[in-house]
Amino acid sequence: MYPAHRPRRLRTTPAMRRLVAETAIEPRHLVLPMFVADDITEPRPIESLPGVVQHTPDTLRAAAVEAAAAGVGGLMLFGVPSRRDATGTGADDPDGILNLGLRTLREELGDDTVLMADTCLDEFTDHGHCGVLAADGSVDNDATLDRYVSMALAQAEAGAQVLGPSGMMDGQVAAIRSGLDAAGRTDTAILAYAAKYASALYGPFREAVGSTLVGDRKTYQQDPANRRESLREVDLDLAEGADMVMVKPAMLYLDVLREVADRSDVPVAAYQVSGEYAMISAAAQRDWIDRDRAVLESLTAIRRAGADIVLTYWATEAAGWLR
Ligand code: PBG
Repeated sequence: MYPAHRPRRLRTTPAMRRLVAETAIEPRHLVLPMFVADDITEPRPIESLPGVVQHTPDTLRAAAVEAAAAGVGGLMLFGVPSRRDATGTGADDPDGILNLGLRTLREELGDDTVLMADTCLDEFTDHGHCGVLAADGSVDNDATLDRYVSMALAQAEAGAQVLGPSGMMDGQVAAIRSGLDAAGRTDTAILAYAAKYASALYGPFREAVGSTLVGDRKTYQQDPANRRESLREVDLDLAEGADMVMVKPAMLYLDVLREVADRSDVPVAAYQVSGEYAMISAAAQRDWIDRDRAVLESLTAIRRAGADIVLTYWATEAAGWLR
């Protein structure tokens, strides 16, 4: 008796494996999140994200050119302001650091690489929440929407082609869409952070943007225990006019990603967040895992689960390997 079926035949050589590989990653699928800070003269390393820095406008420009040359599909910019206040006025100030950074990048890159902006207040508020607070200290959903619209208009004006509302306020996509349309910004697209979980994996991001959060985000970000809730969020964002939807984090939510991908007719993105980067980096630093293999395997898994677009701090480096 011999085995009637031998799947190993299709694994015999690199060429055979390449021929039958189901999932491909190309540089264009990757989006690089970047940080620009306004109180520094040299790029500042982020300890918990080895290899990632807060940029000055000049080094931002250089890193963006490098990413574009590697063929990445887009850049997602976050701002690190030196001053913060209760309503995050730096967010919609045309001369605020994020808007300055967007203008710099737009000038440098033209239309060759898609320029995206994080549309959220947490980098700009002194309490670290994604919205403005009501008198009782809770996050005021509807008052926050007005701030998001103002922020969105400033970002579109500064050259962002895609806005990424990441604050998980109800109605944020509809509010931003109608604000953009009323201002004649009908071509500015919205990448909705549709299914965003209250995750421990955003830890290093706090260091990256120098933000200290009072409390937690559990009244607006989703409970990791829930699956159907993500589908509802996606449906709502699509009904509100989202052009793309995102699942975040990625690696611990591949089941959600698969279901969202099966359900939506718009491109689906997944965000491999700071904690995912940090976990792989830390284990690799100790030689406990092979870094490059783990990175590629993680990106492959995220694509396999249904992501058209992957946001990853490894975008430029991985694009270099994939070319
Ligand atoms: C909100 C935002 C966060 C991240 C992206 N957008 C922080 C949060 O929701 O707490 C986290 C990204 C990461 O961890 O890499 N502006």
